[in-house]
Amino acid sequence: MGRIEILPQQGACGAEIRCGSVQEVDDETFRAIRRAWLEHLVVVFRDQRMTDSEFTAFGRRFGPLKLASIGPSVEGGAADEGPEVHVVSNVTENGLPIGILGSGDVAWHTDMVSFLVPPTATLLHALEVPSTGGDTLFMNMYLAYETLPDDVKRGLPGLTIQHEVASHSSGAGTGASHPIVCTHPETGCNALVLGSRQNTSVDGLSREASDELLSALWTHAVQWRFIWRHRWRPGDVVAWDNRCTAHARQAFDAGSRRVLHRIQVQGSVPPRTAPDALHRPAHPRVGPVPGVS
Ligand code: SIN
Repeated sequence: MGRIEILPQQGACGAEIRCGSVQEVDDETFRAIRRAWLEHLVVVFRDQRMTDSEFTAFGRRFGPLKLASIGPSVEGGAADEGPEVHVVSNVTENGLPIGILGSGDVAWHTDMVSFLVPPTATLLHALEVPSTGGDTLFMNMYLAYETLPDDVKRGLPGLTIQHEVASHSSGAGTGASHPIVCTHPETGCNALVLGSRQNTSVDGLSREASDELLSALWTHAVQWRFIWRHRWRPGDVVAWDNRCTAHARQAFDAGSRRVLHRIQVQGSVPPRTAPDALHRPAHPRVGPVPGVS
């Protein structure tokens, strides 16, 4: 195996992986990267200088890539970046945006959760970043689940959220319904999957009851102790597990340039709750939580 160092970040999730150029890692090193990604939810590789085709080749090691859903001629992509690459950027050229999401705050969400099978992973490669602002925040949804009071946890299996078409990077979707508690298909641990706060409702509940439950779950989830902040540097590649995280982006100065390229790994199975969900062990990155064995 090539040299690899895994440096878990302080806080709720995240690890920096030092392995040289990601496009050169051998299969055994990639298996270690994948294990670290499952263990830490979000992994960061610094100083990666690579073309889009090298970036997509690396992404494909996690699984087949989704085609970018917004066409090059609209926004969010350009012909030479390849059909899987989205541009996330506030930059305009000839009066047209070269990418999506602008420079404002991006609210908490899980990518494309309104699809029947949401992406397994999202990877971003930073080409240009502002000197301040534009940090991406990642929420550990295993931790958000495990820290719920037991009586709330007991009421969640069986409940589903309908995720309607959302604006920004959630993309256009089918408005699929998914369980609120999803048992991760690889780790076997439970995560809270809320999607985004906007345009969602709990199936089978009145509007008021649904809003009350979703607001309570979001209020619980959005706590700094469940969140890890990534401060970008040019050359960063960040890969997150979309099945057990939510993310948000902080605003930055609209006059500065921020250009990231994004690819997404196709999901393989619709989210589901295991029949024995209430008895599943907590994910290792949850750490000791009072009352959780
Ligand atoms: C996103 O929500 O996918 C964008 C993240 C970012 O711009 O850092």
